[in-house]
Amino acid sequence: MSEAPLKLAVIIGSIREGRSGHTVGKWFTDEAVQHGAFDVDVVDIADAPPPLVLGGEPPAELAATSAKLAAADAFVIVTPEYNHSFPASLKSLIDWHYTEWRAKPVGFVSYGGHACGLRAVEALRLVLAEMHAVTVRDCVSFGMYSGNGFGDDGRPTEPEGANGAAKVLLDQVAWWATALKEARAKTPYEVQF
Ligand SMILES: Cc1cc2nc3c(=O)[nH]c(=O)nc-3n(C[C@H](O)[C@H](O)[C@H](O)COP(=O)(O)O)c2cc1C
Repeated sequence: MSEAPLKLAVIIGSIREGRSGHTVGKWFTDEAVQHGAFDVDVVDIADAPPPLVLGGEPPAELAATSAKLAAADAFVIVTPEYNHSFPASLKSLIDWHYTEWRAKPVGFVSYGGHACGLRAVEALRLVLAEMHAVTVRDCVSFGMYSGNGFGDDGRPTEPEGANGAAKVLLDQVAWWATALKEARAKTPYEVQF
């Protein structure tokens, strides 16, 4: 069994001015800390948005983000739905990295209109499979315009359901994070190109 605590990186995917992502991410980070299985770190893409143009050495301003991703045993991505998918900021973050995602679990907290951000989640699953990440089944989803969003106090308007869904998600992420951390320690994950 691994003795060191699991490291969870909560990634806030939207960087838009006036975004809800910060509110949703703050709530979920509190839930993750309270859950107890993880050392929780926050990767707010808005702190250091990756350049759109890929190539060459990663820019220096991405170094802190990259180090957090590399150190993580698991991720939870907080994502809105933009035009039936996830934001370009998140795709850019994923594209600037590769080994950091490998053989690690990823959970999702999504939000948006009537589809509650779930189309963003399904699109992310396809992308993250390419990165050799393992996405967990259950996610936490909010319909921001249908009474299942966040109040002015920054808390979910339906806290019982939201907190319960967060616990289910975090339990699944913890199981996979433990299993995959042990597996990586036993046998390094090799990738054939
Ligand atoms: C460019 C853009 C596209 C959007 N497209 C969708 C969409 O396809 N489906 C949906 O349910 N909501 C859509 N929305 C609504 C957002 O999901 C919702 O406003 C969310 O709160 C935005 O997250 P943010 O404030 O963190 O940027 C869109 C919003 C923006 C800004």
